[in-house]
Amino acid sequence: QLAPLPPMTPAFLKTLNTVCQQCYRDFAPDDVELGVREHILQDLESFVKRQFTGARLRLFGSSKNGFGFKQSDLDICMVLDGQETAEGLDCISIIESLARLLRKHPGLRNILPITTAKVPIVKFYHARTGLEGDISLYNTLALHNTRLLASYAAIDPRVKILCYVTKVFAKLCDIGDASRGSLSSYGFTLMVLFYLQQRNPPVIPVLQEIYDEEKKPEVLVDGWNVYFYDDLDKLPERWQQKNLESVGALWLGLLQFYTETFDFREYVISIRQSAALTTFNKQWTSKYIVIEDPFDLNHNLGAGLSRRMTNFIMKAFINGRSVFGTTVKAYPPEYTSPMEFF
Ligand code: GTP
Ligand code: MG
Repeated sequence: QLAPLPPMTPAFLKTLNTVCQQCYRDFAPDDVELGVREHILQDLESFVKRQFTGARLRLFGSSKNGFGFKQSDLDICMVLDGQETAEGLDCISIIESLARLLRKHPGLRNILPITTAKVPIVKFYHARTGLEGDISLYNTLALHNTRLLASYAAIDPRVKILCYVTKVFAKLCDIGDASRGSLSSYGFTLMVLFYLQQRNPPVIPVLQEIYDEEKKPEVLVDGWNVYFYDDLDKLPERWQQKNLESVGALWLGLLQFYTETFDFREYVISIRQSAALTTFNKQWTSKYIVIEDPFDLNHNLGAGLSRRMTNFIMKAFINGRSVFGTTVKAYPPEYTSPMEFF
């Protein structure tokens, strides 16, 4: 049912490339905006310390992983000095009293504790910048997966651009909001990284499989091994970039990969190993889109997708493949880029 793609002429590839580069330029925050986020964090930390002495706040998620939008939320994790893990803490009542404290902060609005979720959080709105945010406690694995994503982003500039393009695509098609039953940004980012690892030749290595010792080191957090090779200055000694494709070709390749090549029934989208992982191995056969978290191996990012939503997501990819895989002499005057077709 998929139309054949046009010949990849230099002119066609150039158009695709321009669209991807432009999307990145339009949405990536600049250093000033990143600085604003750090500033809000510092201000909140000193405010929170009034009641929680020894509290430390740390940013994670897209403010830190390299794939943030200008309006992305502030994902903040709070830990207490001298307390390694959340063990023995009453997280729900800490979240509730944190909410009471934040209500006294003059710059914040809409303070809302959510204590029924898997990870209890307190949500807030920062009035001056219009940014939304949430604070969770001891969300330590998220700090590590943020670092992992940031490392992949730093390996090759095409990683960042493709992750942005995919996030924009997902938002425009209404398939990128986990709170409304679709997939989170994090889920889409894992899909992009997996594709880039599977590309021949690969665009990125599997950082969790590279180590200097004889055996893979064990760094346990909440019972999971969060080790990955993070010495990026030395990475070229261990892995050489052989893929020279343009970002435009890689973007169309991604849409092709997930509509034509990848067998969702058989395989898991897993960025922690290069060997194929089957849905059967994981006993995750009841879902069509299966995305394994790189550290928490019991966590399937696709677990919350209904059959209807799964079809909707697959249709968006098929539609994307035909929109981006069609040559047009010129777009109608009201369009400047294929992104606007969504
Ligand atoms: P945007 O906010 O959309 O720009 O992207 P984000 O990467 O910050 O996503 P989000 O705010 O939804 O999630 C914040 C972070 O939580 C992610 O980057 C991950 O580090 C971490 N995380 C871990 N597990 C999950 C999960 O199951 N769902 C989501 N959404 N995030 C997770
Ligand atoms: Mg976020």
